[in-house]
Amino acid sequence: MSEPTPITPEGVEQAVSEALAAVAEAATVSELKQARSAHAGEGSPLARFNQGLRSVPNDQKAALGKLVGQARGRVNAAIADREAELAVAEEAARLAAEALDVTAVPSRARVGSRHPLSILMERMGDIFIGMGWEIGEGPEVENEWFNFDALNMDADHPARSDQDTFYLAPEERHLLLRTQTSPVQIRSLLGRELPVYVVSPGKTFRKDELDATHLPVFHQIEGIAIDRGLTMAHLRGTLEHLARAMFGAGAQIRLRPNYFPFTEPSAEMDVWQPNAKGGARWVEWGGCGMVNPNVLRAAGVDPDEYQGFAFGLGIERTLQFRNDLNDMRDFAEGDIRFSQQFGMVI
Ligand code: FA5
Ligand code: MG
Repeated sequence: MSEPTPITPEGVEQAVSEALAAVAEAATVSELKQARSAHAGEGSPLARFNQGLRSVPNDQKAALGKLVGQARGRVNAAIADREAELAVAEEAARLAAEALDVTAVPSRARVGSRHPLSILMERMGDIFIGMGWEIGEGPEVENEWFNFDALNMDADHPARSDQDTFYLAPEERHLLLRTQTSPVQIRSLLGRELPVYVVSPGKTFRKDELDATHLPVFHQIEGIAIDRGLTMAHLRGTLEHLARAMFGAGAQIRLRPNYFPFTEPSAEMDVWQPNAKGGARWVEWGGCGMVNPNVLRAAGVDPDEYQGFAFGLGIERTLQFRNDLNDMRDFAEGDIRFSQQFGMVI
């Protein structure tokens, strides 16, 4: 216990003004706590005056008691006021720090984008859905019979050689990575009642050298229509509709006689490229033809009753022609800036 200090009006006034100054200077709740303990707590000058009251003569007790009591009252009131002020200020600062501007433009939220080939495959499928066709599916790891035999491609057909086709071990299982979407022709016929109008976009694989117009993993969209009385004119009309939907009302296609084992007659389809690098020209887009009766028979369809056409064309080529892209390798390298330049729309 510290010694009681003799009580004088000047001493009390000085203790009060030091206390009020310290309280006013306290800038935070914790600084105010320190000021309270130094100027109003045990051992503070005012506390010592209070203790000193015990030893003052009786005739001065009332006057000095009032002096000290009022002094302590002023200091305590100042502390309470300051405490309320600081609490309000700290609450305001906290709210300001937590404030969210719900109208602010988001800062660089990185939205992903789908690969343009995925968007394009969906878009091409939609064009056929609009004509009443269905979307069909087939596996990427395909049975050799679906990829080749059922399509009238004999065991000695050059496309079956190891040079073009990725076979899966062991050989006896006759599994491969499909080299074309054409096996979906057979799967569509086997799995449905006639008539059949099916398109099937998907991945295909070949041991092709990577260059500006070839990828070893690429995409095709296959189409097969089998009904009574379908002719080459229906094939041409369908492909023209697709070309215009893809490349605009002025798009032109050209069919050149060609050979595919699974169609007869067969044609290669070119599309006119007014903006091709090196000048306007026809560029191959896909293959097509009237479905070979042998293929219909392999799928259990009577070719005397039902006929139809099929086509298969490259999705990468479609994107290339649509968007004047020179190098197909950009499609496969996985640099997201490539996809981002298309956003979500192509
Ligand atoms: C075929 O794959 C046949 N299945 C097409 C067909 C279907 C004919 C139905 C008749 C009836 P082709 O090998 O020409 O045909 O390939 C078709 C298209 O796929 C090509 O015109 C090209 O657009 C695309 N393509 C072929 N190889 C590649 C490759 N390595 N990279 C990118 N696109 C390719
Ligand atoms: Mg070809």
